Amino acid sequence: MRHYSDHYSQKAKKEGYKARSVYKLQEMDRRYKILRRNNTVLDLGSYPGSWTQYASAVVGPKVTIVSVDIKEMRLPELKNIIFFPADIFSLNSQDLLHGKKAFDVVLSDMAPTTTGFKDVDRVASLRLCEKAFDLTFPILKTNGNFICKVLQGEDTVSWVRTIKPFFMFSKLYKPEWSRAMSTEVFFVATGKKS
Ligand SMILES: C[S@@+](CC[C@H](N)C(=O)[O-])C[C@H]1O[C@@H](n2cnc3c(N)ncnc32)[C@H](O)[C@@H]1O
Repeated sequence: MRHYSDHYSQKAKKEGYKARSVYKLQEMDRRYKILRRNNTVLDLGSYPGSWTQYASAVVGPKVTIVSVDIKEMRLPELKNIIFFPADIFSLNSQDLLHGKKAFDVVLSDMAPTTTGFKDVDRVASLRLCEKAFDLTFPILKTNGNFICKVLQGEDTVSWVRTIKPFFMFSKLYKPEWSRAMSTEVFFVATGKKS
């Protein structure tokens, strides 16, 4: 597995991405058609920036992406990014808009600082996901798409059950390359209902 993840780190470096996690987003985007040209995008937990880099390339230069993280993200070469340094627990929905009315796509790859205690980490991860959903659902357009990383567990499954009805399609998805590494999964939802 180490060899496998090293391969992706090297590939990311060669292709100019800040992190190998870009390949998880790429895989989900190819499979579920998450991002389209000229989409407005909100990227939560964006540091060091590989998801923002990928989204920027797909949506193109005419639209801006709003990226949020506690840690300072620097991508000076990308002109279509608004970086907003913040802890999402201190925000409300309006804070995220930055002049936009709503977003076509919300991405969250946020992860809590791990403690090593599985239950504690799982609950912290679910809290981030719940907050990401509660904050962004009111500012996600009808037909919009939502992706959120979360650690697997019973609470996760029941949370997913409560929000599934708001979308035309949704699924807990494990990208291929992260399969054996952890209990992380992604809630992938497309087509927000009006
Ligand atoms: C796995 S990294 C994201 C990697 C990023 N998607 C990329 O491809 O470069 C998870 C990020 O979530 C951020 N994060 C964790 N809790 C957060 C919070 N409460 N508010 C904002 N960002 C948070 C962390 O600072 C960290 O940078």
